[in-house]
Amino acid sequence: MKTILILNGPNLNLLGTREPDLYGHESLKDVEALCAESAQAHGFNVQTLQSNHEGALIDAIHQAGAAHKAGTLLGVVFNAGAYTHTSIGLHDAIKGIQPCPVVEVHISNVFAREGFRHHSYISPVAAGSIVGFGIQGYQLAIQALAQA
Ligand code: DQA
Repeated sequence: MKTILILNGPNLNLLGTREPDLYGHESLKDVEALCAESAQAHGFNVQTLQSNHEGALIDAIHQAGAAHKAGTLLGVVFNAGAYTHTSIGLHDAIKGIQPCPVVEVHISNVFAREGFRHHSYISPVAAGSIVGFGIQGYQLAIQALAQA
């Protein structure tokens, strides 16, 4: 059974208590459990990782690329948090593991928020982006990977 990596970036460990009006009341653990359920329904396992460190996220993307090449990983669901708007390093890492598909997810509608959230370094190298559907976005991303 192939794996889907659910990768979460900075501050997403605070889900449930951080700005709940924007990000909801569900914890990261709840989100990861939801992802495991959705993936299982499509015949996949999940591996989950959250880090507040850009380099650790880059390392995880490289490892995902190797696993994709080895045929054990279907793709990556990635909420890069604030690094979305700043990180050329993450952009290059995702580009570097192509054709491994990376689906970009944002819980909030970043385009309805501050101007600095309107640009994403992830979008141009992502297989697609799901934005503004709350934590359901993770499930939509899993569905997109499973049915691609
Ligand atoms: C976010 C949106 C980002 O702008 C923000 O920095 C986050 C969360 C989202 O899921 O809506 O940390 O990626």
